[in-house]
Amino acid sequence: MLQGRTALVVGGASGIGRAIAAAYVGCGAAVVVADRAAVDPAEVGAVGAVRVDVTDEGSVREAVAGAVEMVGRVDILVNSAGILTESPLVKMELATWAETLAVDLTGVFLCCREVLPGMLERGWGRIINIASQLGIKGGHGLAHYAAAKAGVIGLTKSLALEVSARGVLVNAIAPGPIDTPMVEGITEEWKTAKRAELPLGRFGRPEEVAPTAVLLASDPGGNLYVGQTLGPNSGDVMP
Ligand SMILES: NC(=O)c1ccc[n+]([C@@H]2O[C@H](COP(=O)([O-])OP(=O)(O)OC[C@H]3O[C@@H](n4cnc5c(N)ncnc54)[C@H](O)[C@@H]3O)[C@@H](O)[C@H]2O)c1
Repeated sequence: MLQGRTALVVGGASGIGRAIAAAYVGCGAAVVVADRAAVDPAEVGAVGAVRVDVTDEGSVREAVAGAVEMVGRVDILVNSAGILTESPLVKMELATWAETLAVDLTGVFLCCREVLPGMLERGWGRIINIASQLGIKGGHGLAHYAAAKAGVIGLTKSLALEVSARGVLVNAIAPGPIDTPMVEGITEEWKTAKRAELPLGRFGRPEEVAPTAVLLASDPGGNLYVGQTLGPNSGDVMP
């Protein structure tokens, strides 16, 4: 389904990004994984891996250049790098707020900006930003995270308006709770309460999110999605 396409999966060392990288490989794409953490590209069948800190402009520039060196160009960009911490707003340190915004929102901006010139030149590109359902409904102790993810949804819509007529389709995925290392640290008490809230009664698995990213990247499946936020979320939000 993605034969002949190249993809850069940022945040592809773990969780949802890793599952998307593996799914893209399975669909025939040449994939480069980018992450702050070390990753063996062979584990997901990727062509290569680059290290990146998405909060750092220079690091993002080098990572995209490294990916282009490996696979020739970036047709599909997935932004899945993210961090999650909890704190009531009244006690939240500015540094905690700023770090979350830097990784979860500014990182998306920097990665999009870096791949766009090539996509626009070629007249084809797909950008898939991993937001969160918390960006739609908010979350206790998660004002920083929810604000960043709401920002990703707004960025996605705005960029989609700017570039879709030139062949670059930009969309977001807002998963519900997914069993990945990101949620491992959350208390069992919270997880049990959260499961009880979900119509499906369970968290999702990364492999259950990846097919949505395949759809958005594919032709013709993704051709009519522009600035949308798709919700593989166990029914947590029904916008
Ligand atoms: N797990 C969930 O319940 C859930 C739900 C909704 C949305 N999300 C979003 O999905 C995305 C993936 O999360 P996940 O659950 O797979 O978590 P994860 O922790 O398994 O993966 C996140 C990846 O981002 C990388 N990363 C973190 N900071 C980085 C930085 N500064 N530069 C480069 N890479 C960095 C990490 O090294 C890691 O590989 C995130 O954006 C997250 O907010 C997750």
